[in-house]
Amino acid sequence: MSSPVFVPASQCEILFTTDQIADRVVAIGRQITEEYKGQSIVLVGVLKGAAIFLADLARAIEVDNTFDFVAVSSYGKGKTTTGAVKLIKDLDVPIEGKHVILVEDILDTGLTLSYLRKLMLQHKPATLKIATCLDKPERRLVPIEADYVCFKIPNKFVIGYGMDYAEKYRNVPDIRLFPEDAGH
Ligand code: IMP
Ligand code: MG
Repeated sequence: MSSPVFVPASQCEILFTTDQIADRVVAIGRQITEEYKGQSIVLVGVLKGAAIFLADLARAIEVDNTFDFVAVSSYGKGKTTTGAVKLIKDLDVPIEGKHVILVEDILDTGLTLSYLRKLMLQHKPATLKIATCLDKPERRLVPIEADYVCFKIPNKFVIGYGMDYAEKYRNVPDIRLFPEDAGH
């Protein structure tokens, strides 16, 4: 394996602009506001990738919402996964009887979210839904779909808006394509 190549974000092609992202987040926020009228929600973000999407989504939802975070073992330093998912940080607050929305950056193979969905269901929430910023349906290894998706994308590696390559680029405000020939 070669060591990661850090191309400047400015050299990566923009897939979704900040305006396009904001429009979709607002639309999903409205939909959630409508669907959960009169109720309160716990948003459970998957660290670290979902932190920025959750921050925007939480502010686009007009019904009461609190948030919590879980962390799982992830891709490590590159673009390939081991397939093994391990919980690194559990919930801080009980979710039993609560309306929970799991918030993720990308639904890719589905291994992470199916593991987390099973885990959340063990806590007996009143309802459990999934919101993801991006969905790569072509890559699915286990059958799982999100209830709220900002954008469906082809099988390309992306960075920005919370998403990283070897922990870098999470702060890039838009979503960009990471070049195929950079790193692994
Ligand atoms: P899954 O278990 O394969 O669905 O993994 C989803 C996780 O893989 C996401 O939460 C991301 O952390 C990571 N991931 C998948 N595709 C990308 C990508 O294109 N860029 C950055 N991270 C990705
Ligand atoms: Mg992630």
